[in-house]
Amino acid sequence: KPLVVAIDGPSGSGKSSISREVARRLRANYLDTGAMYRAVTIACMRSGIDLADAVAVEAATRNADIDLSTSPDAEWVRVGGEDVTQAIREPEVSSNVSAVATTLGARAELVRRQQQLIKDSGLRIVAEGRDITTVVAPTAEVRILLTASEEARLRRRGVQLGGSQSAAALREQVLTRDVKDSTVVNFQQAADGVITVDSSDLDFEETVRAVLDVVFS
Ligand code: C5P
Repeated sequence: KPLVVAIDGPSGSGKSSISREVARRLRANYLDTGAMYRAVTIACMRSGIDLADAVAVEAATRNADIDLSTSPDAEWVRVGGEDVTQAIREPEVSSNVSAVATTLGARAELVRRQQQLIKDSGLRIVAEGRDITTVVAPTAEVRILLTASEEARLRRRGVQLGGSQSAAALREQVLTRDVKDSTVVNFQQAADGVITVDSSDLDFEETVRAVLDVVFS
């Protein structure tokens, strides 16, 4: 029977690693929708497209040849056949990605592709992002908003980056992107019927279990 698990949340909430592990334990597929926004951003940057030009960004999104793994055990993303799995995580991409995310025509195109990928999974998938519970899969069997306090999110992202960033740079990276993204998608409050899991005081395993508890409740 179908089991679509939709998970939204801000950056640094641990969404990706938690969702991937939940997918493994459910023997389901996994979709990282943020990777698709990042892939379009790289495609635009490489072809010299002005990210402030909504018409050009929308056209580039429609034309983008993006392929990504939907297996929780294999992480890869390709643009035009080229592996960009590492490149999409570079800081320049993180700081430019909101320009793509706030282009409504680009969102419409990516939402359409994400819905197709969910269908192609045979409706056994954990899909995560910012608008999965509300726009991409509002009828999912399970819908979760994964939150964490600002302090917890900054701490985790700091650890993830190996302590190489100043506190100010970290704040800028984690919080500024959320403020920009919030202008087009609401992932700060749970929509009707969406269950909030607050991971501030939970470790990785406890958070995975809290999400699985919601799935099996
Ligand atoms: O999840 P991640 O931080 O990799 O997402 C990168 C960016 O992609 C977000 O900052 C946001 O701009 C955009 N995004 C989005 N909608 C989604 C997933 C990601 O707008 N469903």
